[in-house]
Amino acid sequence: MIYEHAYEIVVDDVFLHLDRASPRHDVYLKLEGLNPAGSIKLKSAVSMVEDAERRGVLQPGATVIESSSGGLGIALAMMLADKGYRFICVTDPNISSLSRDIMSALGAEVVEVDRRDTAGGYLGSRIAYIEQRISADPALVWLNQYTNPANWRVHDQYTARAITAELSKVDYLFVGIGTSGTLTGCINHFREVSPDTTIVAVDTLGSVSFGHMPGPRHIPGVGASKPPELFHPELVDEMIVVPESDAVRTCRWLAARYGLFAGGSTGTVMSAILRRAQDLPAGSCVVGISPDFGDRYARTIYDDAWVTEVFGPECLAEPLAVAGGPELTGTRS
Ligand SMILES: Cc1ncc(COP(=O)(O)O)c(C=O)c1O
Repeated sequence: MIYEHAYEIVVDDVFLHLDRASPRHDVYLKLEGLNPAGSIKLKSAVSMVEDAERRGVLQPGATVIESSSGGLGIALAMMLADKGYRFICVTDPNISSLSRDIMSALGAEVVEVDRRDTAGGYLGSRIAYIEQRISADPALVWLNQYTNPANWRVHDQYTARAITAELSKVDYLFVGIGTSGTLTGCINHFREVSPDTTIVAVDTLGSVSFGHMPGPRHIPGVGASKPPELFHPELVDEMIVVPESDAVRTCRWLAARYGLFAGGSTGTVMSAILRRAQDLPAGSCVVGISPDFGDRYARTIYDDAWVTEVFGPECLAEPLAVAGGPELTGTRS
């Protein structure tokens, strides 16, 4: 297949069947990291940039500014380089050095905001920084993934549709939330096409998305220190919160058992699936969305010394739900 632009290479139809994850169920991960931007955020980038161009907000010679913990920044850097726009990515110290280097290689200016917001995270500070830059230079174009409807619409039109096209009956869909674009798009599609699917939103402990207390977080992508405007809790069936330590254990288990080098949020989502699987009816079809692979987490989640220092040596072991240990500490509603 021949493409004219790297950013058009969206791979939306690949699922990994995890045959040993939960023997009584059919568990699949939808792999979103197989495109040249390496994450699900390529679809959001294409959708928001094309929408801004259509609306005339983004015109030749413009500079785009956006807040990202890595994935969207890389996708935008790639697309905006090809289209000839300049790009400023506003990020924070949790970004992986590899993500930062990739963005720089693609010509983006990367600004790391290291002042914590009132919730102890960085999102509020990243947004305050963007607002300050825009007030100094109103010509900057902020796509704003946190509020932009093009961010969730693309997951209704593509991500969710690809799931129902591949699997005739999905009983449970597990989606991690950052901006909630993926989740909101999936909700829209599934409520119309497959209303019986139980939709489970997955967050990380320390994130405020489900209304819990803020706390320290180290893994970029999933979770927020500011409530995501695109997230509507009343539209989901269940919410599960996973401690980062268990996401780490689950990532390492996926690598060791399945040869799947998964990103942090895949570990978070898979951890929620493993925990919940114990109560699901036999024969259920369970799908989790895997936003990216492990490359950008090689120096953290897959580094024994980092894991031991941040989470303790017990996190080098299998996830508790697999090891048959005590129930995990997250909450479910
Ligand atoms: C790496 C990564 N990309 C994308 C997503 C999905 O984020 P959003 O809710 O912004 O669509 C997540 C959230 O789990 C993530 O961790």
